[in-house]
Amino acid sequence: MNKQDTNLPTTIVVLTGATSGIGESFARQLAARAVANPRKPRIGLVISGRNTARLNALADDLNRTGVVDCLAVTLDLADPNAPAELIKATLDRWGRIDVLVNNAGYGLPHLFHKTEPSEIQAQIQVDMTAPILLTRLALPHLMKSPAGRVIQVSSAISTIAYPIFGAYGACKSGLSYFSDALRRELSGTTVAVTVVEPGPIRTEFLSRAMHGLEKNDSERSFIESWPPWIFGTPERVAAEMVGCLDRPKRRISVTRRAVWPLRVAGILFQIFPPLGDWFVSKNLRDAGVTPRNQG
Ligand SMILES: NC(=O)c1ccc[n+]([C@@H]2O[C@H](COP(=O)([O-])OP(=O)(O)OC[C@H]3O[C@@H](n4cnc5c(N)ncnc54)[C@H](OP(=O)(O)O)[C@@H]3O)[C@@H](O)[C@H]2O)c1
Repeated sequence: MNKQDTNLPTTIVVLTGATSGIGESFARQLAARAVANPRKPRIGLVISGRNTARLNALADDLNRTGVVDCLAVTLDLADPNAPAELIKATLDRWGRIDVLVNNAGYGLPHLFHKTEPSEIQAQIQVDMTAPILLTRLALPHLMKSPAGRVIQVSSAISTIAYPIFGAYGACKSGLSYFSDALRRELSGTTVAVTVVEPGPIRTEFLSRAMHGLEKNDSERSFIESWPPWIFGTPERVAAEMVGCLDRPKRRISVTRRAVWPLRVAGILFQIFPPLGDWFVSKNLRDAGVTPRNQG
């Protein structure tokens, strides 16, 4: 690569989970922001996911803006080699990383005794191991950047231990814990770490999560009973994520009206565990989700 090339990107961003929802919106808003900037800063953007057709379509759109040099990398983060492959592809292309956005993830709203061990293993790999490993692999490069950023898309579920999402919540709680610890560890550096804790957001997340549940499964009716007002939009979450590239935040909560009551309840349930057990179990029983002793 010619170092004199003035067309080189000024910022290199690695994004997982770019094929839909929050990740796709983040990529599009990042490009729109650069287009709107009179200096037209160039961005090198690595987008990843499993769906090659969607990735290529997004890359074409972004490349057409003239401000984004987009590299699409198809990979499955359930593969333990995928994090190293993604970082290698980025470094082979640009030799630098300024921003890492760990957004890919999925939920499995199943009663735990009905979840296959292989599904649990894949979920832990995608929702927790991969983002932590990606952070480790990117960090030496982020620490050379004048404004390194790590954005971890966790979940508001990390505030309350929630049945049927137990393994998913464990991964997201682990990711939030890790990210807070890392931010404190890196406080003397230029790397900022942001934890994004969305409440329910209208993306493909819930339809994907419910894939595999029968029409009359109680887990499905429980999720379908959530009131519309608690849902936010992926555009809103992504806008806050793009905003924190310039002004880093510790936490992003969308929507606040859904996430803050959960936070307050979570603190109460930590102090009074019997209250949490009673309230959450009742909530689930009322929705008809009632596991019984086996045998
Ligand atoms: N929507 C919500 O209610 C909600 C709430 C709290 C937190 N979140 C979190 O927000 C993040 C983004 O989700 P979203 O709401 O935007 O849902 P989404 O539309 O389903 O997007 C999920 C993204 O993750 C990617 N992904 C899933 N499994 C993957 C795998 N094994 N390997 C590589 N990529 C994978 C998907 O790409 P491919 O299918 O192409 O692989 C997709 O691009 C997730 O981490 C999710 O846990 C969502």
